[in-house]
Amino acid sequence: MDFNLTEEQLMIQRAAREFAQQQCLPGVIERDEHQKFPKEQMEQLADLGFLGMMAPTEYGGAGMDTISYVIAMEEISKVDASVSVAMSVNNSLVCWGLEHYATEEQKKKYLTPLAQGKKDGALYIGAFLLSEPEAGSDASHQHTSAIDKGDHYLLNGVKNWITNGSTSSVYLVMAQTDASKGPKGINAFIVEKNTPGILVGAKENKLGIRGSDTHAVSFMDVKVPKENRIGADGFGFTFAMKTLNGGRIGIAAQALGIASGAYELALAYSKQRQSFGKPIHEHQAIQFKLAEMATRIQSARLICYHAAWEKDNGLDYTTSAAMAKLHASDTAMWAATEAVQVHGGYGFVKEYHVERLMRDAKITQIYEGTSEIQKMVIGRNITK
Ligand code: CAA
Repeated sequence: MDFNLTEEQLMIQRAAREFAQQQCLPGVIERDEHQKFPKEQMEQLADLGFLGMMAPTEYGGAGMDTISYVIAMEEISKVDASVSVAMSVNNSLVCWGLEHYATEEQKKKYLTPLAQGKKDGALYIGAFLLSEPEAGSDASHQHTSAIDKGDHYLLNGVKNWITNGSTSSVYLVMAQTDASKGPKGINAFIVEKNTPGILVGAKENKLGIRGSDTHAVSFMDVKVPKENRIGADGFGFTFAMKTLNGGRIGIAAQALGIASGAYELALAYSKQRQSFGKPIHEHQAIQFKLAEMATRIQSARLICYHAAWEKDNGLDYTTSAAMAKLHASDTAMWAATEAVQVHGGYGFVKEYHVERLMRDAKITQIYEGTSEIQKMVIGRNITK
């Protein structure tokens, strides 16, 4: 077992850290307050090759491993989780899904610009449309329908909580083609956002990741060419689940970054802030908090690396991805709350960043499968 990062992984860590500090930190409070999508930062990520990190180079990607992706996600999430969720969705839900299940033509047409993150010089990213008003955790009960009309499908329905909802050029949409077949009657489609009949709702006014572009998207008699279906008829639910397994590693890494960002801020503050005649980290009450944060964060990092390692080595990573997300997201929520506590009253104001990290942490226990769903996935797998 080798715990050393490779030269390439260390280089990615430095690049991601520099990007986070120099490009994301300035303006992060304002973007959060005004719910401003980090478009400039996304364009810079495209230039860095971070929007298609794991996609093969022949399709415009950077051809890196999943551990590199986890490392980059941690560094960026320490500073701005709104940037990292947009990055994560494009990498693990959109590019990965297309790389593994799309046809050669689909890959050339869609994966290549999505992995580059740009087309004709403009930002080009994607979104993953599974959730619906009445199908969140219960994802196989899709109400959105796709009726086979010969050379095309006719798409009708509403998707919600869609990350990159208005900024995406491409949607991967799950829809029911034959309700009598349950999950086996679901298909996944590549839908261009500018197709007639698509309506993007207002941006959601959220507790956290406020810069992230979250919308409902409605489909009204949207014609999707037959060649835009992903995989064989009825493959859509499996496509969604397999893609989400990797997505869960991305969100686990985001949670890890939120936790370690909060910890680093708390540690620095504890060295500078004095009370009762000494820096507060010299008080056992604070030192124990820092010690526990460092320990839990290191265990979250290792569980993320392990899930990524399983994925990179062709092993079944369904359980380890769910464990990583469950553990890292709980760590993020707990560590960010502790970081606010270490800061005392200052932790409660925006300038000190930890209150934003605490708000951002909450969503990691909810999206890409709630903590309860992760327990269900783990429980089913360890007892079968
Ligand atoms: N990996 C691979 N296959 C899986 C799987 C997984 N994690 N989970 C289920 N499957 C397969 C099953 O093996 C089964 O296949 P077979 O029929 O061939 O045996 C099939 O899918 C149906 O599975 P179940 O019978 O277990 O289905 P279910 O309805 O009982 O429950 C569930 C499945 C695990 C609860 C699933 O619905 C689920 O994961 N729900 C959560 C959905 C979710 O994560 N949504 C996130 C939205 S996307 C998002 O948040 C993106 C964003 O913008 C940030």
